[in-house]
Amino acid sequence: MANPTILVTGGAGYIGSHAVLALREAGYEVVILDNLVYGHRDIVETVLKVELIEGDIADRALLDKIFKTREFAAVMHFAAYAYVGESVGQPAKYYRNNVTGTLTLLEAMCDAGIKNFVFSSTCATYGVPEQIPVSEDQPKQPINPYGMSKLMVEHILDDFDHAYGLRSVRFRYFNAAGADPQGRLGEDHSPETHILPLVLLTAMGKRESISIYGTDYDTPDGTCLRDYIHVTDLAQAHILGLEYLLKGGSTEVFNLGNGQGFSIREVIEAARVVTGRPIAVTLADRRPGDPPILVGSGEKAKQVLGWNPQYADLETILKHAWQWHQKRHESV
Ligand SMILES: NC(=O)c1ccc[n+]([C@@H]2O[C@H](COP(=O)([O-])OP(=O)(O)OC[C@H]3O[C@@H](n4cnc5c(N)ncnc54)[C@H](O)[C@@H]3O)[C@@H](O)[C@H]2O)c1
Repeated sequence: MANPTILVTGGAGYIGSHAVLALREAGYEVVILDNLVYGHRDIVETVLKVELIEGDIADRALLDKIFKTREFAAVMHFAAYAYVGESVGQPAKYYRNNVTGTLTLLEAMCDAGIKNFVFSSTCATYGVPEQIPVSEDQPKQPINPYGMSKLMVEHILDDFDHAYGLRSVRFRYFNAAGADPQGRLGEDHSPETHILPLVLLTAMGKRESISIYGTDYDTPDGTCLRDYIHVTDLAQAHILGLEYLLKGGSTEVFNLGNGQGFSIREVIEAARVVTGRPIAVTLADRRPGDPPILVGSGEKAKQVLGWNPQYADLETILKHAWQWHQKRHESV
């Protein structure tokens, strides 16, 4: 029997590309649908070596064509806009792409009879958490349109399960970080807003300094605490979530976090050690909408899916990210 084929939207992006690699290594056939607004064609062609369909999740005619030409066992949906700050100034852009685009994709899937869906949700659905570590049943009160767009899709997924039998696994990631341990893939957002790459680009001299937004939070050193989760561990969870659905598992939601928070100052200090380079810091005011502490419990994913993160320590995450950054950026 042929290996199942999975459609991966956003597979040319950061997390999606790591998931594609994990899918290939687990024996799945993969087709990527990505409009390349942020994705990297070179990564697909030289590393992933799977079919890339350059197109938009909101293009219903294209989706119908894709679903007619072959049989897909499931869709993994990474395609979205994910800049929190931008979503506050341009909510329409976020609701259009993340909600309306996803709705078009889901309708096309249902019409094609594809009933398994793995969805990239986010810890931003919780807003400012009431308890740390955050468990899945805590109140969902997003404080920005990005988080709200992901929560809206989660509600749509409940209704689609009820009405059309489309089963889904939603993963609420905490801070995705790190890079493929073998150095084949890594994080390359443009513009870059994530703390680890910003710190490493500063260590490389590609940025003058790293800004710390707020040093007066009620945390041990006054800076925000975040839960960094290795992108390869995220990818592994996606394989487990997919297999859970393919075996007939019911719709579920899982946090993907390590349950341990690191402050911004700790991250910068660890990066100084890993890179052996100075990293200049600029102190800035708090940014509105930054929760002081975001740490997630991954216990449910461990118990239900058997998820077993391999790279939970910050030093390893930084080492892998540094290896990739040097390869990708230092010669440029
Ligand atoms: N990076 C994180 O820490 C993090 C945390 C929580 C959730 N997420 C979610 O994970 C997913 C992947 O994030 P990422 O960091 O890899 O982002 P990314 O920007 O690297 O990847 C997203 C990919 O989707 C593509 N895309 C966007 N809109 C599209 C559309 N309409 N049609 C087709 N392709 C489209 C982009 O070109 C890009 O390749 C997103 O859904 C994001 O919301 C990320």
